[in-house]
Amino acid sequence: MTPEAASRDAEAICTLAPIVPVLVVDRVDQAAPLARALVAGGLPALEVTLRTEAALDVIAAMAEVEGGVVGAGTLLTPDDVKRAKDAGARFGVSPGATDTLLAACEAADLPLLPGASSATEAMRLLERGYRVQKFFPAEAAGGAPFLKSLAAPLPQIRFCPTGGISPENATSYLALPNVICAGGSWVAPKAMVEAEDWDGIEALARAAAALPR
Ligand code: 3PG
Repeated sequence: MTPEAASRDAEAICTLAPIVPVLVVDRVDQAAPLARALVAGGLPALEVTLRTEAALDVIAAMAEVEGGVVGAGTLLTPDDVKRAKDAGARFGVSPGATDTLLAACEAADLPLLPGASSATEAMRLLERGYRVQKFFPAEAAGGAPFLKSLAAPLPQIRFCPTGGISPENATSYLALPNVICAGGSWVAPKAMVEAEDWDGIEALARAAAALPR
């Protein structure tokens, strides 16, 4: 797929809800109930990080949940892309971007949200055709004021800031014209997942889904 098509798909996925949960899931049996809770709360787009041994099986289990759109996060290598796609991921996310990774996603027809944290990185991705990008690590790299500053010279790029986003600061990002959605792990806290508090997670998702943008 072309970068332009990848960006169109990424844009559609990012438009589904204001927040994309960033998930670190250790146990496969918790994947489907977790996804069901988040989707029921109004957050259909889910990023599963490839940080646990179970991650690929978690993606496969979540891909079966009705209404969910499951992606794989922290894609670093062509092998990650292949394994994520084979598991059923419908999009990929990366903290940065390399030519190798971009080419692998394009060849695999996996829409990618590539990461940028400087004007040059964002411009390089735009030059290749990626209009929708992840801004990572959002808070550490300058936060909402940084993205606001990019909106004037680079209005054609829209970002999904991720990293340090919380219910308290999310609205300052979502209010910006160049922010399409934000990613965050707070909607699925480790303790609540371990306790299998699906109702509690659904409530967190519902609050996040109601954030204005
Ligand atoms: C991550 O690196 O895990 C993601 O960017 C999510 O960051 P967060 O835990 O600060 O939301």
